[in-house]
Amino acid sequence: MSGNNVDVTERVIIDHNDIKQAYEKVKALPDDEAEKWFNQLLWTIARHSAAEELVLYPLLEKTGQIGKELADKSREDHLKTKVALSEMDGKPMSAMQRQKIDVMMQDLLEHIAMEESAGGDLDQLRKAIPRDELVSQGNSFERTKMLVPTHAHPSAPDKPPFETVVGLLTAPIDKLRDLFRSFPDQAEVKSNRDQQ
Ligand SMILES: [Fe+2]
Ligand SMILES: [Fe+2]
Repeated sequence: MSGNNVDVTERVIIDHNDIKQAYEKVKALPDDEAEKWFNQLLWTIARHSAAEELVLYPLLEKTGQIGKELADKSREDHLKTKVALSEMDGKPMSAMQRQKIDVMMQDLLEHIAMEESAGGDLDQLRKAIPRDELVSQGNSFERTKMLVPTHAHPSAPDKPPFETVVGLLTAPIDKLRDLFRSFPDQAEVKSNRDQQ
């Protein structure tokens, strides 16, 4: 799935699969190689969560009471993940770090399953919002991912317009930090995705 005709629910699922695949790599590889895939995992989760908070959940709230409750629950889940991630960020890979990653991922995978489930966030959006609107929100979702911070900031507000401002302010610092980290080669990321 690529191009501009991908709706926001499909884009969210693509991200979820990227998150799952990066986690599988972390689990499968020895510490020194797992490190760069953990950086990839962090980066994917941080951008995905922020784009959901800025684009997906406000859209969900527009669908009424059910949507509002789903969005609130999702923001609560995100906060938990952000706190866990910010505690792990920058620490070397170790048995202890792996344990923390597994606990964080267990919660996150549950959250992802909820978003994708019948009656969950994406289902609610598909029921309540016409596809052309979901496609145009999909483009906003993708654009937002280019602007948001690349690391978790649990103390940043999670509703627009505040996260927008904080996000824009913190993004350049994160981008700088990223220059000093090791990431999997982009071609490697792509081929990992294609193999699934
Ligand atoms: Fe989410
Ligand atoms: Fe998600």
